[in-house]
Amino acid sequence: MTISGSIEETRKQVKEWKAQGLRVGLVPTMGYLHEGHQSLINRARKENDKVVVSIFVNPMQFGPNEDLESYPRDLDRDAKICEQEGADWIFHPEVEEMYGPDFSGYVDMNTLPEKLCGASRPVHFRGVQTVVSKLFHIIPADRAYFGQKDAQQLAIIRRMVLDLNFDIEIIGCPIIREEDGLAKSSRNIYLTDEERKQAVILNQSLEEAMKAIDAGEKDAAKIKNMIVKKINTAPLAKIDYVEVVSFNNIQPIEKIEGEVLIALAVYFGSARLLDNRIIL
Ligand code: PAF
Repeated sequence: MTISGSIEETRKQVKEWKAQGLRVGLVPTMGYLHEGHQSLINRARKENDKVVVSIFVNPMQFGPNEDLESYPRDLDRDAKICEQEGADWIFHPEVEEMYGPDFSGYVDMNTLPEKLCGASRPVHFRGVQTVVSKLFHIIPADRAYFGQKDAQQLAIIRRMVLDLNFDIEIIGCPIIREEDGLAKSSRNIYLTDEERKQAVILNQSLEEAMKAIDAGEKDAAKIKNMIVKKINTAPLAKIDYVEVVSFNNIQPIEKIEGEVLIALAVYFGSARLLDNRIIL
């Protein structure tokens, strides 16, 4: 496995693989890998001949008061995990390699990023779309793998690939959870013991909502209220949002029908945790 910080070297290698007729899978990450990322690498390994993992904490997707500086980083540990999962190449550029001194372009979209996480993180998805576009140009892979925990990100990237005609298949992979149901996240390390205990409420509230939907509840507002009420029983939870939207365009819906995303973001102390259910 090679670790490279160079755009030129990485692009050259991937192009060589492609010229040999090999299929390349890309797993974009910000590092501090956990089982969720491992499952993406593992799936990419099964479906491609070569696997590239990008590890880059992208400053452009962090707002001014967010956790860019404290975001956990551990390349040695990440490299071991990538090697163990059978990755062939880690692309780990410095910020200066990705964003030169005169950098001034970005990729943005109109409506999908406005709601949910976009409402409280206004520059976030512009940063995600820009860096993911750059990664797709640097690493002309056949497939790219993203976790469904970041469901809005997945919907936005799918839309971007369609709208801008990127020649890459986007694969969404299921959320990987701790034994008690908490979705795995690099930010879970920010939780105190008590916050960690209470954070299970997120998955539990979604479980209850899904049971109600399975029993025939179609009213999106009722589902939303049910989730809010349940989360508010955890004293340390501070809701950022709970929303029931169409998965296709991230717009609010009244009835549970078609492709639906039930998404939430909740603070426990400094940790902002996401969870969701996608009904397809
Ligand atoms: O999901 C992430 O880790 C990041 O948003 C991504 C897709 C790697 C872009 O920086």
